[in-house]
Amino acid sequence: MSNLVAPHILALTAYEPGKPEDELKRELGIEEIVKLASNENPYGPSPRVLEALSGAHFQLHRYPDPRGHDLREALAAHHSIPADHITLGNGSNELIDLLCRVCASRDEHAVFGHPSFPCYRIGSIAQELRYTAVSLRDNLHWNVDDLLEAVTPKTKILFVSNPNNPTGSYIPAAELKRLLTSVPEHVLVAIDEAYLEYADASDFRPATQLRDTRERLAILRTFSKAYGLAALRVGYVIGTPELVLALNRLRAPFNVGTIGQHAARLALSDQEHLAATVEACVRDRAKLGGALKERGFEVAPSQANFLLLKMPKAGRAVYEALLHEGVIVRPMSPPLESWIRVTVGRPEENTRFLESLERVLRESRV
Ligand SMILES: Cc1ncc(COP(=O)(O)O)c(C=O)c1O
Repeated sequence: MSNLVAPHILALTAYEPGKPEDELKRELGIEEIVKLASNENPYGPSPRVLEALSGAHFQLHRYPDPRGHDLREALAAHHSIPADHITLGNGSNELIDLLCRVCASRDEHAVFGHPSFPCYRIGSIAQELRYTAVSLRDNLHWNVDDLLEAVTPKTKILFVSNPNNPTGSYIPAAELKRLLTSVPEHVLVAIDEAYLEYADASDFRPATQLRDTRERLAILRTFSKAYGLAALRVGYVIGTPELVLALNRLRAPFNVGTIGQHAARLALSDQEHLAATVEACVRDRAKLGGALKERGFEVAPSQANFLLLKMPKAGRAVYEALLHEGVIVRPMSPPLESWIRVTVGRPEENTRFLESLERVLRESRV
């Protein structure tokens, strides 16, 4: 019999999600768990969302709006662009995969950073693309020339996570503009701005302000992070109507559910809640980073809602030891195997993380 699973799928390293709290409860019987593993907003979504959902009567027997009209109109108004420049995804993750499928054919080429979000690689492999994973400088910092050098006549898509997961680093405005104007015309540049709301560097610039620099540009956004709606799976892409129409050809017709569309619209309408929770995170990012540095850890400068910090021992061993403390962080794979990534949580969660980290390292449990 021939293979059930295609060889390129068998060969790929699957995405390793953050460990769910309930899984750790089942495994170790720990009740009080702090999850700082998936860069979620620890304050949750706008109270408007929670109020509306608790009293809502959705027509659950009806399919969702396949075109997401109301949410797309709200996003169009928010960004001051026409609604036909936007399409919705089941999280931005789905859109990463969709961009690979729509814009590149087998044996064409993709470029992305390394270390960066693993789904650019997974999306490329699924589509049987060749790819170049461009090493970040010191494994932490973007270098635009390195990205440009990796582009070939066969390159169809170039992904940049800005700010980058898992390093928290970013491409400053002038360099981003240079990238967008220097990448050859035939390449679609996809700027993934999942963590944009947390970037406060004076020279950070959203790609939405640079749309006039090139035609082949896709900007990915999500409601999973700062908007606090990770459970509902809503992301979107901003691009030309030509790109949006092409994505819609392949996008599953009902890829974003009714509740997700409704909740995202309400979350978008409450910019005050967004600003307040982002402000708390940015403040606590500095506090936690400072406290870690005081304790002698190397911490990568972060423009996102997480910190990457170097361990004196294997990061995975520290991760495992922290699980026994009821604290879930994220171990990293090579070349960051001695680092862990921790989401900035509420102040009390950050304190618990710090205390647990000190304890497991002091007691040499790793
Ligand atoms: C850089 C980046 N892009 C995209 C995503 C996917 O987010 P979602 O599918 O929840 O929108 C993540 C999630 O961790 C991410 O870190």
